[in-house]
Amino acid sequence: MGSNIAIIGTGYVGLTTGACLAHLGHNVVCADVVPEKVEALSRGEVPILEAGLDELVIEGIESGRLSFVLGATNAVADVDFIYLCLPTPQGADGAADLSFIQDAAADIGPHLKAGAVVINKSTVPVGSANEVAKKLERADVHVVSNPEFLREGTAVSDFLHPDRVVIGSDDRVAAQRVADLYAGLEAPTLITDPASAETIKYASNAFLATKISFVNAMAAVCEAVGADVNDVVAGMGFDKRIGSAFLVPGPGWGGSCFPKDSHALVRIAENAGYQFGLLRGVIAVNEEQFGRVAKKITQAVGGSVEGKCIAVWGLTFKARTDDLRDSPAINIIHRLRELGAQVKAYDPAVLDGSDSRLAGIEVVTDPYDAVAGADVLAVLTEWDEFKTFDLEQVAGKIGNKAVVDARNLLDREALKALGFSYDGIGRS
Ligand code: UGA
Repeated sequence: MGSNIAIIGTGYVGLTTGACLAHLGHNVVCADVVPEKVEALSRGEVPILEAGLDELVIEGIESGRLSFVLGATNAVADVDFIYLCLPTPQGADGAADLSFIQDAAADIGPHLKAGAVVINKSTVPVGSANEVAKKLERADVHVVSNPEFLREGTAVSDFLHPDRVVIGSDDRVAAQRVADLYAGLEAPTLITDPASAETIKYASNAFLATKISFVNAMAAVCEAVGADVNDVVAGMGFDKRIGSAFLVPGPGWGGSCFPKDSHALVRIAENAGYQFGLLRGVIAVNEEQFGRVAKKITQAVGGSVEGKCIAVWGLTFKARTDDLRDSPAINIIHRLRELGAQVKAYDPAVLDGSDSRLAGIEVVTDPYDAVAGADVLAVLTEWDEFKTFDLEQVAGKIGNKAVVDARNLLDREALKALGFSYDGIGRS
């Protein structure tokens, strides 16, 4: 017999959590504040690109276990568990802005069933479970921290096959009740206090960002000493203590999580009296990486991008998502545009340039149109299909045979054989 659950917020995390919990047999009602979104979701229309999510949403609606309502207060009255899946954007000072979560907690407090459990899924600074508890003003309701470790693009699979489930609570019974919601999953479960659970989330994201900045810095060293970073990573990866995951060099890390969470952790540490120099360095290397890629593109067109036409493949912050938030590709493009470049871009998940982040970029729906007459092709997102594109056709259309492959994705030898100059990351 499934539990009755409310999900507050139907973004990437909330919608995936709701649909997966319904799939596990629970009765789930998801609330959002945007009427059109609630209506579309009720019809089974998923507004984001997330593998397997459409199917699960439709399955949930058809089984009667998944529904959508407008407004948090309409979702919580009869449920035993309430997941807060609301944004925690980066505030002006770098710290996470908790206002969405605090406002929701204040709204739902009076409407909760006696003994309900409120679960924080959003990434929140240490101490937030207490803040939520204060806003709820309900002594009978426990607040539990249960951070998500979902990657966009593979969120459904990450939810259903997690590496671990982390639950933080001062109340063992409430923590176990939340753990029982995941009984259908085979995963190690760590029950701890709220501060440790909240810290685990930040520490995990910061460590992953550190791995990527490390490999990007190593790529710079490889270029300087004439080594090939791909082989260096392969050689490192055989060491089980290191592993090769999250050591793929690229244009820098981005997205809705790493940038805000790394800045937030620097601020959390600083407020607690610790200067997190290592993490500041990780962030600085990432900023440098955007600049290094922009410089490679500039060099590929002869030293100045002014008036040059740059063809770009890839706009999203990584492949298999349509998310443009804090995309390294867009950061790099805007650096080039400020220097007078024209940019024509193709991305399989971006069908037009209507998103305000794409202002000034000509977005085309054909990869070969993007390269027509261009002075260089820059690969900025690691979409697998780019590997299958016809390089001879590219050679026939491009104005100047130059490629900057910021994801080390294309066939370097084939490009060189076709007369291209090739510059990758940590290999030339
Ligand atoms: C990240 C974490 O991986 C999830 O575990 C976490 O739950 C999530 O943030 C979150 O906090 O919600 P996500 O933002 O979807 O997930 O993206 P990642 O797959 O981690 O990639 C982040 C960035 O790093 C992308 O720009 C990607 O291209 C880049 N990256 C990743 C590399 O440059 N190299 C790598 O080896 C891996």
